[in-house]
Amino acid sequence: MRKKLIAANWKMYKTPEQAAAFFRDFLPMVSDHTRDEIVVCPPYIDLQIAIEAARGSNVMIGAQNVHWEKEGAFTGEISVTMLGALGVTHVIIGHSERRQYFNETDDTVNRKLEIALENHLTPIVCVGEVLEEREAGLTEDVLRRQCMRAFNGISARKAAKLTVAYEPVWAIGTGKTATPEMAADAHSVIRHEAGKVFGDQFAENLRILYGGSVKPEICTALLCEEEIDGALVGGASLDPVSFTKIVKY
Ligand code: PGA
Repeated sequence: MRKKLIAANWKMYKTPEQAAAFFRDFLPMVSDHTRDEIVVCPPYIDLQIAIEAARGSNVMIGAQNVHWEKEGAFTGEISVTMLGALGVTHVIIGHSERRQYFNETDDTVNRKLEIALENHLTPIVCVGEVLEEREAGLTEDVLRRQCMRAFNGISARKAAKLTVAYEPVWAIGTGKTATPEMAADAHSVIRHEAGKVFGDQFAENLRILYGGSVKPEICTALLCEEEIDGALVGGASLDPVSFTKIVKY
């Protein structure tokens, strides 16, 4: 049995003060929740306050991005060493918004995945097709390509903490959700691809989250699907009550 992971992606929302207020409300509501793992990924400047707030609780803190080098002249970037020093345990890699607006490629995803794993962070690697690709029947090809390139050159031993999020781009922030069947089909493709690279046993244990307009009203059907090992939640994770409802689906 794979333990489910429910992750919040706050994107570019919340000041440190607003982040602190979120944790004040959220932590008591989920303090008794042991069924699933919970991760909150705030913007960089909120990480410190989030880690202090969540210390000793059942909630872990992740970053939304990381650079592929350990240090250097990379103005505006943040390294794995910096995240580790703060106590960050997870990192989202290759979110479609990073691919779309910040020139993230399958190659940079691969390099970021490698350094995250080397530094004992749990990577959440995002893959997913855009609407035109789905309509053209290319979803499987896209997922295969993204996974193959992301996993390139990484050993199963090193990849132990790998987590993947299937996020169909047409479902992100649009209010359109993949049906549990659509998500399960995509997850099987990803699991198969992981099996080819890392072996069947690894693939069997790999957690694959679904993301894209996950809301309290529709999360139960998705999360009860056996192939879906958790959720990556954007908009609905900003409000502590709504995110609690998803965690406790
Ligand atoms: P959404 O975002 O839940 O607002 O659609 C999900 C994501 O981008 O991870």
